Amino acid sequence: MEIKVDFLVLGSGLAGLSFALKVADNAKVAIISKKSFNETNTSYAQGGIAGVTYQPDSYQKHIEDTLIAGDGLCDKTVVELVVSKAPEQIQKLIEWGTQFDKKADGNYDLAKEGGHSMHRILHHRDNTGFEIQRALFAKLKKHPNIQIYENHFAIDLITQHHMGITVTRQDKDIECYGAYALDVDRNQIVKFLSKITFLATGGIGNIYQTTTNPIISTGDGIAMVYRAKGIVENMEFVQFHPTALFNPGERPSFLITEAIRGFGGILKTPDGKEFMHKYDKRGSLAPRDIVARAIDTEMKLHGFEHVCIDVTQTNHDELKQHFPNIYEKCLSLSIDMTKDFIPVVPAAHYLCGGIKVDLNSSTSIKRLYAAGESASTGLHGANRLASNSLLEAIVFADIAANHSLKELNNYENQPKIPEWNDEGTSLAEEMVLITQEFKELQMIMSNYVGIVRSNLRLKRAFDRLEILYKETEELYEKTTISPHLCELRNAINIGYLIIKMAKRRKESRGLHYTLDYPQKNKMH
Ligand code: FAD
Ligand code: SIN
Repeated sequence: MEIKVDFLVLGSGLAGLSFALKVADNAKVAIISKKSFNETNTSYAQGGIAGVTYQPDSYQKHIEDTLIAGDGLCDKTVVELVVSKAPEQIQKLIEWGTQFDKKADGNYDLAKEGGHSMHRILHHRDNTGFEIQRALFAKLKKHPNIQIYENHFAIDLITQHHMGITVTRQDKDIECYGAYALDVDRNQIVKFLSKITFLATGGIGNIYQTTTNPIISTGDGIAMVYRAKGIVENMEFVQFHPTALFNPGERPSFLITEAIRGFGGILKTPDGKEFMHKYDKRGSLAPRDIVARAIDTEMKLHGFEHVCIDVTQTNHDELKQHFPNIYEKCLSLSIDMTKDFIPVVPAAHYLCGGIKVDLNSSTSIKRLYAAGESASTGLHGANRLASNSLLEAIVFADIAANHSLKELNNYENQPKIPEWNDEGTSLAEEMVLITQEFKELQMIMSNYVGIVRSNLRLKRAFDRLEILYKETEELYEKTTISPHLCELRNAINIGYLIIKMAKRRKESRGLHYTLDYPQKNKMH
């Protein structure tokens, strides 16, 4: 089956949806999503979206906070661009129907999170992402030029490679003509041909044992670009959220938003002792890398299974009003957060690196743009400032929309693309092998490539992963295509890229902390 469009959008989170809405008045758009439309990281976002709204906050302060969190590796031009475009893009979300909380005086109720010097996070209670997803979907489903394909799993980008032409990573002229995707309900491969493709397939959290990310986050888009010989960078910078709810067996881990610490929550050991002051003078509101490492250290030092957030001393009515979902979730586990500590542990949360894009949001592959969590724009550097990712997604999707609309007339749908080649793949899906290999991958990544790393741990991870890689490629060659197998293959690819780039970085910086290159003692 073949579908021809002007724009193919891979992913239905904030980046994909906002891009589609911006180009669709002038072009035919297909959005594909590997599960149901709303199963995205975007839907799970709690804290909110950062942006300068009122004085005395200023662009300069937001820029400085972003640069400090990024530990010297942010691209300052990108930081300035994103921060200065925040108000206009947030306004667009509001025009599309997103409701951000307001105070009694009619002004927006701005929250504060780790690493921010000001209250500047717009939010909808403690489920901002769900509200954004709701508003954009409501707008988009009425659009006559947008066709949505749920349960369509993108397998590979189509390039000259599929026309029998050899491409290498050094080639400057690789072009993307769309993607092959598996229509999961009909079990058939669809060839999506596009003049321009926009990739927004989100994060990678599921390559770790504990993650806040929903199951869709297996790094598919980044792996596809890497296989298509595109440039991927900064993969060593994986952000662990310090405070996921400690509830063994639950996947994804339920997030306890950083905004709850901005509201007055204090990190304590299970026996009630504060500890963050030992690590950073900003205490419980230090940037995430510092807080996650401090928690990791405390847990290992004392053998705790978790640490805690104490919000018992805050105003209980306001607490319940601001964080109704967290309150309900805790109650469902017999934790009354107005009286009890909330048990928390760090969990894989966000990837700062990914597909390298330029200031137009263009990747190294022609006719292919990327934005959102799968892209590496230069905004986050070595560590992302809280609530800057929804902002980055919408700003870069806007940049990509403006640029690609100007380019669209230069391109035609490529007519010479063959059907998907499934020669030799007759074996039925071996679920036991796939499940076990995925678990092994998660174990390797969590044990050796987590919050604290070392040369030896990285080498061990690399050696173990090589075995998994060979076994999986062999299986892939022979087996009928399936989303599980593709996800495993992609996830191993992502693990490989993280380890490779982590091994190359001979220093501790931001989220990449290694025992072999201790940080100069940085007490903030
Ligand atoms: P996503 O929203 O993850 O969407 C990815 C899409 O790609 C999905 O539709 C998926 O189906 C699709 N996809 C993936 N692979 C394939 C494939 N092979 N084929 C077809 N489709 C595919 N950031 C903030 O700024 N503020 C917050 O408060 C905040 N809170 C968060 C809380 C949680 C629990 C989590 C997990 C993240 C949070 N983040 C937050 C991060 C932020 O939500 C994400 O970085 C952002 O939403 C990513 O948007 P996206 O559009 O790039 O991708
Ligand atoms: C949170 O609400 O703590 C998550 C915010 C983010 O990841 O930016």
